[in-house]
Amino acid sequence: MKQQEFKRYLVTSALPYANGPIHIGHLAGVYIPADIYVRYLRLCGREVCFVGGSDEHGVPITIRARQQGVTPQDIVDKYHFQIRESFSRLGISFDVYSRTSSKIHYKTASDFFRHLYDNEKLLEKETEQFYDPETQTFLADRYIVGTCPHCSYSDAYGDQCEKCGSTLSPDELINPRSSISGSVPEKRMTKHWYLPLDAYEPWLRKWILEGHKEWKSNVYGQCKSWLDNGLQPRAVSRDLDWGVPVPVEGAQGKVLYVWFDAPIGYISNTIELFPDSWEKWWKDKNTKMVHFIGKDNIVFHCIVFPAMLKAHGGYILPDNVPANEFLNLEGDKISTSRNWAVWLHEYLNELPGKEDVLRYTLCSTMPETKDNDFTWKDFQARNNNELVAILGNFVNRAVVLTHKYFNGLVPAAGIPTDYDQEVMRSVPGIASALEDNLEHYRFREALKEAMNLARLGNKYLADTEPWKVAKTDMERVATILNFSLQLCARLTVALDPFLPFTTIKLRNILNMPQALSWQDLARETLLPGGHRLNEPVLLFDKIDDATIETQMAKLKKTEPVKKDVAPALPECSFADFEKMDIRVATVLQSERVPKTDKLLKLTIDTGLDQRVIVSGIAQYYTPEDMVGKQICILANLAPRTIRGIVSQGMILMAKEPGGNMRLISPLEGISDGAVVG
Ligand code: MF3
Ligand code: ZN
Repeated sequence: MKQQEFKRYLVTSALPYANGPIHIGHLAGVYIPADIYVRYLRLCGREVCFVGGSDEHGVPITIRARQQGVTPQDIVDKYHFQIRESFSRLGISFDVYSRTSSKIHYKTASDFFRHLYDNEKLLEKETEQFYDPETQTFLADRYIVGTCPHCSYSDAYGDQCEKCGSTLSPDELINPRSSISGSVPEKRMTKHWYLPLDAYEPWLRKWILEGHKEWKSNVYGQCKSWLDNGLQPRAVSRDLDWGVPVPVEGAQGKVLYVWFDAPIGYISNTIELFPDSWEKWWKDKNTKMVHFIGKDNIVFHCIVFPAMLKAHGGYILPDNVPANEFLNLEGDKISTSRNWAVWLHEYLNELPGKEDVLRYTLCSTMPETKDNDFTWKDFQARNNNELVAILGNFVNRAVVLTHKYFNGLVPAAGIPTDYDQEVMRSVPGIASALEDNLEHYRFREALKEAMNLARLGNKYLADTEPWKVAKTDMERVATILNFSLQLCARLTVALDPFLPFTTIKLRNILNMPQALSWQDLARETLLPGGHRLNEPVLLFDKIDDATIETQMAKLKKTEPVKKDVAPALPECSFADFEKMDIRVATVLQSERVPKTDKLLKLTIDTGLDQRVIVSGIAQYYTPEDMVGKQICILANLAPRTIRGIVSQGMILMAKEPGGNMRLISPLEGISDGAVVG
């Protein structure tokens, strides 16, 4: 086999962001195929290192932390351990699962950058970026909000409008403001380092477009389109306080861009596992490196990271990047924010013992060449009609009959009939199709072939009917059961990459304490005559309608009430609420703030004092509307200076999805200073 020209296999799977749990989309796209592949390689006896870990940097993690009033470290600690545990419970067999906040990673990523910097592989550029004068920080695009130029949604992000889906740059936003402080951002000069991807374009074209025509067409096609559109230098640093500091003098407040440091995490995690021998995994041409990822990661793994490795020098490049498309759920895009997902940790708790059923269903519906759909009905059908009815049924009949007729001892085979020989002759063909599919990352087809072995056995028993033959010809029954049991033993190898928990159960039933190797698939006799079987247990149970309905109902329940309504915020404590001094007040005077069309300056009586509040409500109320109105205010909000006016508090308003705002006002007159709560 030509694959064996490689001495060892370095298999990576995308490092998930540690800011939320894993769902079935991640699994079908990345972790199930990667795990099947490495389990297969290990069975073949090849030297494998399967690298996983958490991606713990990036702006979304800092935003999430800020929203929840915790530190980014708190967020990643919570999810790193949760994700690691749920992967392990599903049998995803990483050799190492570390994190990009580790010491080793900081050093590795930092040294990598420094090497590029010292060898003048990076460009240094000063550009204008948005800066929040109040918090004195540069603002990532995500931290700038404003009105979308396309649909007028008032809370569009600087990189994207979530209402109409447009990709934006912060310059396009109307009335941009900082989402941290609310203040109007300024432009300031800032220095960053760039990887000149354009310089690597000819090399990348040659390496991918000419050298890797065998890559999956979705991957090859995406690479080609990036390359045909022309590559630009890419900033590899950011102004942010969460990440690996840029290891250059005068780079305070700057960190490595998350997509620069994260793939280096593959290297760091290998170093953590093999501190003394990691280099052979990364620097020896006899190592075959394969990146398992989802399609949104293609450019980073096929273009950016290889360019980084090339710029650094001394590293091998990926031999293949078998990226998958996306998995949908019940016909709709999986969405974390809409909670439209099946979460792994919940699945494991709610359907214990059914790890392999999920692995099986996700492999069967793996979005290998196009997006695919997971439905609970399909999950049930695959379990009941395939795992129970074919695989479970075959094994159970073979073992139960052996106990019944031969006291649980594998009977010696007699002379095979023509039909027996025909059946046995089809096994090597199935095995080699299985192997070929696994070598070429066609896991759905591979699983079909593995199941074909069980299908073959099931049909063999149905055709030969040993339970009837037993009345007349025990010798014939012995042969039938011997052949069937040899097939069962083969299944412990063929199914192992896909269904590792079932394989262990099956080996227990067959009393095979030692796992076989992939090469054993080619052997005809795996269980000698006289070998004692253990008592049969069912490999799979039927899944009833009620179980499926519970899962479907759960999805319905979490389906968003209405798309337009602002998402719910995380729970807050009563103590949090009590900190807010909300009171009724009366507007005494009201005027426009000069040279603005949004702001009113209101003088109000709070019962405690008379004070000024500047409020962005001029689009909704005229100054005349306001005078004499009773309103609610947040009285203890830290004062802010807006257009040179000190604003002491905030007027409470209700905001509709389109941006329209209405005052909150007591239904009946009540004295000023009355506390709301
Ligand atoms: N965290 C990224 C994502 O979920 C994947 C990072 S893969 C790595 O899309 F190579 F960069 F680590
Ligand atoms: Zn929009």
